[in-house]
Amino acid sequence: MPDPFRHYEQAPVLDLPADPPAPQTPTFQILAGHTANPLTNDAAQFLSSLLFHSASISATKTVPSTGTRYALRVNPSSGNLHPTEFHFAAKGLANWPDGLYHYRASSHMAEQRQSGGDPVTELLNLAPAPWFRSSPLVFVLTSIAWREAWKYRDRAYRYCLHDTGHAWAALALAARALGAEAFAFAHFPDQQASRILGVDDEWPMLLIALKGPGIPTADRPPSPKHWNGGQPNPLSTETIPYPAIDEVHQATTLPAISTIAQPTPATSNEGPIPLAPLATSDATFEHTVRSRRSALDFRGGSETISFEMFSTLLDFTTRPFAADFEGDLFDLDPARYITLYLYAHRIDDLDRGVYRFCPITRTLQRKRLGDQRLMAAGLSLSQDLAGNSCVTFSMIADMERALRDHGDRGYRYVHFEAGNIGQRLYLASEALGFRSTGIGAFYDDSVHRYLDLDGEHHQVVYHFACGHAITDPRL
Ligand SMILES: Cc1cc2nc3c(=O)[nH]c(=O)nc-3n(C[C@H](O)[C@H](O)[C@H](O)COP(=O)(O)O)c2cc1C
Repeated sequence: MPDPFRHYEQAPVLDLPADPPAPQTPTFQILAGHTANPLTNDAAQFLSSLLFHSASISATKTVPSTGTRYALRVNPSSGNLHPTEFHFAAKGLANWPDGLYHYRASSHMAEQRQSGGDPVTELLNLAPAPWFRSSPLVFVLTSIAWREAWKYRDRAYRYCLHDTGHAWAALALAARALGAEAFAFAHFPDQQASRILGVDDEWPMLLIALKGPGIPTADRPPSPKHWNGGQPNPLSTETIPYPAIDEVHQATTLPAISTIAQPTPATSNEGPIPLAPLATSDATFEHTVRSRRSALDFRGGSETISFEMFSTLLDFTTRPFAADFEGDLFDLDPARYITLYLYAHRIDDLDRGVYRFCPITRTLQRKRLGDQRLMAAGLSLSQDLAGNSCVTFSMIADMERALRDHGDRGYRYVHFEAGNIGQRLYLASEALGFRSTGIGAFYDDSVHRYLDLDGEHHQVVYHFACGHAITDPRL
């Protein structure tokens, strides 16, 4: 297993203050799109809180047989392997030097890979969009495919993309809880981004620009660029090549800066079951993100979730994404590539069955009636949790439209969107008092057959289960 922690040795490290300000805004307000008030006028505190609530270690577990302890983080990850690395470029922050940084998650510090210069503008110039030009802070999420591939082989590429989507939502929501907005750029030339970051085995996946009153800034003159770089730690003694992963990554790269196509809107003629009014929750953002955990399994039996809780989960998935591949930031009805199908097992006032959710009309259309527990588990590589949950989702991508809009690059975008939706479902479940688990392992063709999809035009990209978790004895 490759090391799940990346370090750039010899790069100077800057402390991110311990016990940073904790966002007490209710989780539901953040999921609903509300931007909280600023919490600090010190950028070191801001950065520390932002990363503490989106990417840091939040728990440890013990392997019963060996007694070995391992770390769990705020952001979930397939197999807890964490392919995603967080880099950021800063300019004109109060009490924080300009430059380019890598987040050292193992010790909650920032490695200064470049001091001075203007990597913020260099990165924003890669994405020719008018949004967020004045941003003082740009994150780059990179992916190390080998961390997933040693275990999941060719399928690992998809997990890397989901993981990026989860990390994106984790960062964007934490930013909002600290008084800043985020906008994600996915349409940038890969190699140029790699050059700016000085990375080799990490693939840049998303640029995320932040701005807003919550980010403490200060007027100061630019400083000269000094490259510190640092030596990336070797992640394992050997690396096994997975040519199919390299090929699909290559097929989805962009060689040069290009304008992103405006997505074509999705159409829908959905039928008739409307969502209920939303459930309430007092859980604070800080509490929700720091205590979020994946369920290892769900209790099954007769415990249900209310139709209001279920409606709330669905409602939060419909909120705008703020990304270049999703249309305009202020577009309240953005073009979506993902449609949620769901296997309703234990939801009050909803018959067991398969449903399709239309985010535009906020209604459910029933596709099949009857008990879906064995089928949902069977489709999810015989994982019991998909049948023991209260509801399990199949996220279906309009692959044909994504590829028409964006070429092969669109393959990445549908997975980013699925991961982002998954992260919202994680936080909404946690705030409602139950739990979730992302499920990357499922039988693609069988799902297509069962849901009556053509498999070319529409493809399943992610499964997700929500319900009452069994207690994890290892925590
Ligand atoms: C993209 C993705 C795919 C996942 N697939 C599965 C899965 O198929 N089965 C499962 O039990 N858990 C799955 N998980 C949950 C991870 O195992 C879990 O996030 C990881 O162990 C870390 O635990 P935590 O979420 O409690 O931090 C997945 C998570 C993600 C983000």
